[in-house]
Amino acid sequence: MILVTGGAGYIGSHCVMRLLEAGKKVIIFDNLSTGHIETVNELKKHGELEFIKGDLLNIEDIKKVFNNNIDAVIHFAALSLVGESVKEPLKYYYNNVMGTLNLLNVMIENNVKKIVFSSTAATYGEPKYTPIDELHPQNPINPYGNTKLMIEKMMDDFDKAYGLKSVRLRYFNVAGADEKARIGEWHNIETHLIPNILKSVFDENKTFNIFGTDYNTKDGTCVRDYINIEDLITAHILALEYLFNGGNTNFFNLGTNEGNSVKEVFDACQKVLNKNINVSTKERREGDPEILVADNKKAKEVLGWQNNKTLTDSISSAFEWEKKLSGKIYAKN
Ligand code: UFG
Repeated sequence: MILVTGGAGYIGSHCVMRLLEAGKKVIIFDNLSTGHIETVNELKKHGELEFIKGDLLNIEDIKKVFNNNIDAVIHFAALSLVGESVKEPLKYYYNNVMGTLNLLNVMIENNVKKIVFSSTAATYGEPKYTPIDELHPQNPINPYGNTKLMIEKMMDDFDKAYGLKSVRLRYFNVAGADEKARIGEWHNIETHLIPNILKSVFDENKTFNIFGTDYNTKDGTCVRDYINIEDLITAHILALEYLFNGGNTNFFNLGTNEGNSVKEVFDACQKVLNKNINVSTKERREGDPEILVADNKKAKEVLGWQNNKTLTDSISSAFEWEKKLSGKIYAKN
């Protein structure tokens, strides 16, 4: 049985879908603070899934989950808005760091010693060189990144003392949705680029803004490495296999080795939708690094991972999902 924390959220739910389709038994533990019960209900149609509503800040909730026979944990549950983390660091340290400490505590008590953890490129901070490999120094520039780095360090210490084996996956910019549009990215507060572009098409009250056109990049807008959600999930499955095969604690970047500027992503969206989309330009968004591109060699070499999908694939699947989410049908012509 695999325990997936945060399995009702964007990335967690895609992982649960893949596990269920591979015939695995899964428990989702989620407090539904940002995840959705509708997502859980969809997932239940695809395999043997138990949903437990609970909070990582309540250790008794976690203990109950471990009455089941858990073989390994995939830990997604976390708050993940960079801007919010700057304004409300208390909430972030409490939820992300304390919550994970409780989880690890109960894991050790129950002798469950395999965990795949959702980490982030935000642990690197302002890049010193690009593409960023795993040897790049980790110096986060915001509380969100700090919480994820603290958890990585906790996991190292827990390995030395208790033999906990972790794989930390450092995501770059995750994009796209389930190919059949059964689930997708669904945030009540949406800050991410591709969904914001698409939302401006479906909702005439929303305007898409480009944050900053004076960066030192090919066209003045920020460059990011957009990794498709399905490719990203494949790495989680491989990481789990790696741990079951006796692999040691390790950490990997998940990206494509390629950068796209905000303008390029915007143009790609217009092309996929075959539509001119309204756009405004705004000041730089605070805390945005100029360029973030992953060196993904290590994940390929050690996990045997391969990224297959393109930016266009991600935009197309995100579009199909957004169409469903908005309840509107926008005909491509
Ligand atoms: N952007 C816009 N307009 C928008 C939204 C975003 O121009 O409406 C720009 C941003 O300024 C940035 C780029 O698009 O230059 C990507 O922004 P996202 O918000 O989609 O993604 P981030 O790179 O800011 O954040 C991602 C993850 C975080 C993680 C971070 C690592 O979502 O969880 O990478 O730096 F912390």
